[in-house]
Amino acid sequence: MIKRIGILTSGGDAPGMNACIRAVVRTALYNNIELLGYLRGYDGIIDNQYVVMQRESVSNIIHRGGTVLKTARSPRFMTPAGMQQAVNNLQQSGVEGLVIIGGDGSFRGAVELSKHIDIKILGCAGTIDNDLVGTDYTIGYDTAINTVTDAIDKLRDTAESHDRVFVVEVMGRDAGLIALRTAIASGAEALLVPEMHNDMALLGERVRQWRKTKSSRIVVVAEGDEAGGAYKVADYIKSIVPDFDMRVTVLGHIQRGGSPTCMERVNASVVGYHAVKGLMEGRRNELVGIINREVVYTPFLKTVKHKETLDAGMEEMIRVLGS
Ligand code: F6P
Repeated sequence: MIKRIGILTSGGDAPGMNACIRAVVRTALYNNIELLGYLRGYDGIIDNQYVVMQRESVSNIIHRGGTVLKTARSPRFMTPAGMQQAVNNLQQSGVEGLVIIGGDGSFRGAVELSKHIDIKILGCAGTIDNDLVGTDYTIGYDTAINTVTDAIDKLRDTAESHDRVFVVEVMGRDAGLIALRTAIASGAEALLVPEMHNDMALLGERVRQWRKTKSSRIVVVAEGDEAGGAYKVADYIKSIVPDFDMRVTVLGHIQRGGSPTCMERVNASVVGYHAVKGLMEGRRNELVGIINREVVYTPFLKTVKHKETLDAGMEEMIRVLGS
């Protein structure tokens, strides 16, 4: 029977991480498992910085964005010396299992760690980008798309009042899922994402059409799109119609903050609970995800980043609704 485990959050923070931490802590303590909360991701293991988590450690955090354990991307963990220090510290503290909340880089780190020490590791997908195989929704994504939709709604108000064109850049690293969903939800007139081949000539044609009626227009651009970001897209539009009144908004890190949505809190709680249950069953090196409302464990090695390919119907729908 597993007696002591650790937990950490790694990579970019995401709303809902706290709900997941809470679920892990409460499930572990309920089952008489001691829990060490490592601070600042893998750096916490290397530096032996942890908090012994109590029931109260996670009181009143389910509704808070960010992560109470803090987070970091740890270049040190990728060095032989950092890895060895982490292994030594884990061995000394008698930790038999770990729950890692993070993105694909965090899970690659977990796979590496498990080559050096016999430890059970399970992961919960925490990233606003929703770009992992093994779960329909990563922790943070639902809140982020609601934040972005709310922001674009606000931009629409001012755009409409001035008959302006707004080019809005959203996060997602090399994935365009935040852009895709929020463009549909906010009724954007155009969308540029890495998953779709962007025919700039076609966009130019659409832009010329926009001259016929005075109105607001919203163009959503994924930060990872080949067009090179909102400012470049705005320059392109301006080169076609120089007299457009245009503004660019890069939403930035506001997308990573805020109180998690109801769905976020529920999903994060479910995967956190099942991460501890999985460790108790002896599972290791897997991501705990939710696919079609079922809890599914997927080997870390298969949770590589994915680019959702859009089916032709979806592409067509986006074009029609934005026309
Ligand atoms: O992976 C989450 C994410 O917010 C991406 O969407 C974005 O590209 C990146 O992290 C930003 O990272 P940082 O917080 O290091 O600037």
